Amino acid sequence: MDTSELIEEAKKAAGNAYAPYSNFKVGAAVLACGKIFTGCNIENSSYGLSICAERVGIFKAVSDGCRNIERIAVYAKKMPYPCGACLQVMAEFCEDDCEIIVTDGEKVERYKLFELLPKRFKLEK
Ligand code: THU
Repeated sequence: MDTSELIEEAKKAAGNAYAPYSNFKVGAAVLACGKIFTGCNIENSSYGLSICAERVGIFKAVSDGCRNIERIAVYAKKMPYPCGACLQVMAEFCEDDCEIIVTDGEKVERYKLFELLPKRFKLEK
């Protein structure tokens, strides 16, 4: 699965974003089990109920039984660096060196999860 396909899917998913409050439309594409799960941000008039594109995509993968997330692309017109809450959710389902690609359609930046969230909270099992 090449990066450009993942980015293209993230871009397409941004078209489904429901963001009437922020007007900031985000799309994510999550590669898990060799398949792509897309997500967009979905806002709510009770603002705190809004959810980011990354978490929608990750939860779609996990609810389909794919917990092994290999790579994530996130697209918005301005660079959509994942928020702390999404990074923590990534820490639950991604390896520390999982690749996170952030793009505004022009710039493409690639990070590893450990670079964006150097100290990750994990409960000892
Ligand atoms: N948002 C995302 O979906 N992903 C990000 O990486 C950054 C922020 C959303 C949340 C909210 O709907 C809007 O962008 C503005 O914060």
